[in-house]
Amino acid sequence: MPKSILILFAHPSYARSRANRALRAVAEGRDHVTLHDLYETYPNFLIDVEAEQRLLLDHDHIVLMHPFFWYSAPSLVKEWLDVVLDYGWAYGEGGTALAGKSWTQAITTGGPAQSYCSDGLNRFSIDELLRPFQATANLCQCVWQDPFVLHASRQATPEILADAAAKFSAMLEGLIDG
Ligand SMILES: Cc1cc2nc3c(=O)[nH]c(=O)nc-3n(C[C@H](O)[C@H](O)[C@H](O)COP(=O)(O)O)c2cc1C
Repeated sequence: MPKSILILFAHPSYARSRANRALRAVAEGRDHVTLHDLYETYPNFLIDVEAEQRLLLDHDHIVLMHPFFWYSAPSLVKEWLDVVLDYGWAYGEGGTALAGKSWTQAITTGGPAQSYCSDGLNRFSIDELLRPFQATANLCQCVWQDPFVLHASRQATPEILADAAAKFSAMLEGLIDG
């Protein structure tokens, strides 16, 4: 039985995107994948909490897909977390709605891979910087997956983007196949 994936896509200036555009192309229109563009749906940040919670309930896997912004996500993702992952629904007493679903961050960074280590420019690894997301997934009893990361995305050649898209596609297939 194929599993279903909900991609929560967040890019505030998607018209100018190269990296996320290349990755997103392999998800769009794909069987068992719902690509949900948060900035397109909520340009005014007024999130329909019930609709978001229904979408989450309808899928097995959650993928948060976004460019890395200030070692985190674009701000609509934070708003989404704040209002959708409600006490008593996603966590806390009786809050088991997301228990057992998987949670994957799919990010593109401006910085190269070697800048994300203790003696590199960014001082911390991607795994360390994603800890708040991992902790959130943990509190919601989701299963944290290794993140998908495309580094140095602004310098990526068409070949590099195509290779990353193929890897992202394989990751999605793996999730669908369980
Ligand atoms: C507001 C802002 C903050 C950013 N913060 C980071 C950051 O913390 N680390 C990093 O490696 N790149 C950072 N970048 C670079 C973006 O991650 C990069 O431009 C993006 O991944 C490119 O993807 P795209 O082609 O889909 O737009 C930042 C860019 C912007 C506009």
